[in-house]
Amino acid sequence: MSETWTWVCATGELLPGEMKIAFDETTGAGILVVNLDGTLYALEDQCSHEEFELSAGSIDTGEGSIECVLHGARFDLRDGRALCAPAYEPVAKFPVKIEHGGIWARDDRE
Ligand code: FES
Repeated sequence: MSETWTWVCATGELLPGEMKIAFDETTGAGILVVNLDGTLYALEDQCSHEEFELSAGSIDTGEGSIECVLHGARFDLRDGRALCAPAYEPVAKFPVKIEHGGIWARDDRE
């Protein structure tokens, strides 16, 4: 688990419908941060189907989901749950915050 927050980007660099990638400074985990209609969400940047980068896929702001480009699984951006096959397990959801003009996230898994 990382106690240290990782810098993602300045707040003005992540507009609604956009995503940014960062790597947790302690665990090295890829973190996908999304601005969904003004609310920030952070998920592990890894599909639960075959460990592929979710950030290579596309966001559906209407559904609030991201689709894995490899086999088409979709995940809810708000909580990481799998919405359709071939993925059944959720992806990890991480804490995200705004502080000192920037967006920060961290891998809080044990
Ligand atoms: S690796 Fe993501 S759906 Fe298969």
